[in-house]
Amino acid sequence: MNPSRPFNKNSPHHKPWVMLTAYDAIMTRAIEDGDGDLILVGDSLGRAVLGYDSENEVSLDDMIHHARAVLRKRTRCPVIVDLPFNTYNNPDQALASAKKVHAIGCDAIKLEGPLSESISTISKSGIPVVAHLGYTPQTAPSEGSKVVGKNLEQARQLLEDCLLIENAGACMLVIEMVPREVAKVITEKISIPVIGIGSGPDCDGQVLVTTDMWGDHPVAFKFLKSFGSLLDNRTKACRSYAEEVRTGAFPSDKNSFHIKQAEKEAWLKQHAT
Ligand code: KIV
Repeated sequence: MNPSRPFNKNSPHHKPWVMLTAYDAIMTRAIEDGDGDLILVGDSLGRAVLGYDSENEVSLDDMIHHARAVLRKRTRCPVIVDLPFNTYNNPDQALASAKKVHAIGCDAIKLEGPLSESISTISKSGIPVVAHLGYTPQTAPSEGSKVVGKNLEQARQLLEDCLLIENAGACMLVIEMVPREVAKVITEKISIPVIGIGSGPDCDGQVLVTTDMWGDHPVAFKFLKSFGSLLDNRTKACRSYAEEVRTGAFPSDKNSFHIKQAEKEAWLKQHAT
C-alpha cells in the first residue's frame, strides 16, 4: 500500500487511522475531503446500497463495479476491496479472486477468517492482504451473541488467530465486535495496524460503514454513533423538489436556456398558436 500517512504503529506521531467504507465516487470524495485515511469497499455494499438482504448475495463483479467507481475518484487514500462470500473457498480460488480485484488498481484486498494459507498465497503473489477477525458477517451464525472474545477461551483463540494471520503475511487487521480489553491486548501484541469496529478505542484505528454513520439506515448498533442524518436531508430534498415541480416553482426562467435573441421573434411567430 502507498498511504499518505505511513502505517507505522510504533511511531510517536501515530494517531488513530480513520477508515470508512465507500461504494461510489460521491462517497469517495466525501471521505477524502473529510480527512479520512483509508477507504474500504466493503461487502456491506450489498445491504447499504444494492438492496440485497445479506452481504452474502454480493458477487465479485458487484465489488469490482463499485471499486472501479471509487478508484476513479480517489486521489490520496489507499483503497482496500473485500473479497465477497464464496470467492475464496480455497487458496487457489482466493488467489484467482484477489488477482481479479487487484488488477483494477486497488491497494489491498480484505478477507474474513483466520485463513493463513490463503493469506500467505495471496501476499506472496505481491497483493497486500487485510484480514478480518472477530465477528465475521459472511460466516457468522445469524442467532446468538455477535461479540467474539467475551470468555477467556474465545479471547485466547482470537489472539492466536491474530498472530496466525500476522505470520501468514497480512498487512493489516480489522477486528469487529471484540471486547475492549481483548482488542487492546491484540493491538499491543501484533505489529501490523489493527483497525477496530465495535472493538473499543484502543485499536490503532477505527472503521465504520459510512451509510450507517451518515444515518442513511435505521440501524441501532451499540457500537455505532450517528454523525449526521443524511436520510432525513435527502428525503427533505426529494420532497421539496416534488413540491416545486408540482407547483411550477421549479424550473424557473433562471434555470432555463434561451434561443438567440435575434432568432426569438421569428421562432415565436412561426409557432404562434
Ligand atoms: O463490509 C464492510 O463494510 C466491512 C466493515 C464492517 C469492516 O467489512
